[in-house]
Amino acid sequence: MGVPTWCLAVLPILVVLFWRRIVDRLRLVYYVDKMPGPFSIPILGTTWQFQWAIEKFTAQLRGWGEYYASQGHGVVRIWLGPKPFVVLIKPEYAKIVLESNELITKGPEYNPLLPWLGKGLLIETGDKWRVRRKLLTPAFHFRVLEDFLTTHDEQSKIFVEQLEKFAESGEQFDIFPYVKRCALDIICETAMGTCVSAQTNPKHPYVQAVQRMNELIFMQQRMPWFWLKPLWYLSGYGYEADQQLDILLSFTRKVIRDRIQDFEADPGAFDRPDKKKAFLDLLLSSRAEGGLTDVDIREEVDTFMFEGHDTTSSSMGWTLWCVAHHPEILKKIQAEVDSVFGSSARSCTSEDLKQLKYLEKVIKESLRLFPSVPIFTRRVEKDFEIDGHLFPKNCVIGVTPLMIHQNPAVYDNPDVFDPENFSEERVTKRHPFAYIPFSAGPRNCIGQKFALMEEKTMLSWFFRRFNITADSQTKFEENIPCPEIILKPSMGIPVQISKR
Ligand code: HEM
Repeated sequence: MGVPTWCLAVLPILVVLFWRRIVDRLRLVYYVDKMPGPFSIPILGTTWQFQWAIEKFTAQLRGWGEYYASQGHGVVRIWLGPKPFVVLIKPEYAKIVLESNELITKGPEYNPLLPWLGKGLLIETGDKWRVRRKLLTPAFHFRVLEDFLTTHDEQSKIFVEQLEKFAESGEQFDIFPYVKRCALDIICETAMGTCVSAQTNPKHPYVQAVQRMNELIFMQQRMPWFWLKPLWYLSGYGYEADQQLDILLSFTRKVIRDRIQDFEADPGAFDRPDKKKAFLDLLLSSRAEGGLTDVDIREEVDTFMFEGHDTTSSSMGWTLWCVAHHPEILKKIQAEVDSVFGSSARSCTSEDLKQLKYLEKVIKESLRLFPSVPIFTRRVEKDFEIDGHLFPKNCVIGVTPLMIHQNPAVYDNPDVFDPENFSEERVTKRHPFAYIPFSAGPRNCIGQKFALMEEKTMLSWFFRRFNITADSQTKFEENIPCPEIILKPSMGIPVQISKR
């Protein structure tokens, strides 16, 4: 039986119609496949080799990074089914990509966040992002951040009070949920000017919805079949996500509405020095000047809520884990906090924070080994080249602090927790992009100073009051970093604490 004549007529039309796409696809496959990477097969790509247990996946990623770095390569090519994903492992390459003013569009992994965060600063691209970034940068000026110190301090006090019972009983417990709830209280108050009291009221619907929504988003990101809406809803998770989303959005909308009413009733109140300010107030001033709409404001507040607490709690959780396993480092931190605060239980000032230099090294080193954002991406919109590798249009590039921070060509003992990696001497010796937990370049983390301020305040309160140890049965490396959206400890942070 011959081919029907209508087919012969339609085929050239289809080729003409989709010519551009066909050529783009062939170029994509050709250039990406020239790069080094694990063996890949049609349709499944490299996914057939993936360790699906999330704990093992980290080791696999690090293993690939170490292997290809030791072979002198700067990129690793992975195929996520038909989609190429090129991971950069050389700091020099990361610099080129992150400093580019053209490569600012995020990859598709942020799509599941769209219903919640909308096109806020984290996800938006192009001119809209540029305008937004310019508008929001003053909100993170150090003078504004200083106003937040009272909140960091007050919530940190509640944090240590919550832990007293464990210091008294001496029992082993997971400190991670306590860290998370404190960070959530801080971000609610600083971003929205409202207190959800997660530390004393963990059953608050907003607190529970934030937690569950993060889990659902991660599930959808990781399981490609859930990218298909019918399967997402058939599984029941889609409906659950809608419910959680409704709680989250209604809450922020109400907070914003109330704040607008207060703002309109007495605009002068927001300038009074005794009034605690929130990011939301700064956004409302911009609204008054016609810079932001109500939807824009809601998106930005939700973006801060999302980016602003899981990241810092992951970092603090891992810091506590590292210190619990290194008693000599604990002693040095305590000597430093004692030299700054003596035995007083006074509040923390920004002058104190500046003096906590060793604690800062400890936090930085913990972020090197356990970067809260283990991977971030860019979608290539126009071909570009690095060192003879052509990155064609539509290729997604991944920058992985998880791999770059472990590069044996950069760090002598990459697996060892050593705060001296942040001594002035070592920092000046290495490539500046060999350490990028907050990303770098135009799309770097706008909240990094806020994050360090929060972490130094909370942790200095902790170390002023407590000793911390880990169960001698559990080895440091047994707690595996799981690359969810944010890097999570596989076993939580099980520790014992005692009063000093
Ligand atoms: C240890 C804590 C933190 C870490 C490790 C961290 C890390 C990062 C990284 C790696 C990015 C770039 C992501 C990408 O390119 O896809 C980023 C972006 C961002 N972060 Fe953070 N972050 C932290 C804390 C915070 C806090 C406390 C806030 C807000 C209060 C915040 C707000 C943002 C925002 C809004 C962006 C998007 C910036 C833009 O694209 O212009 N982050 N963060």
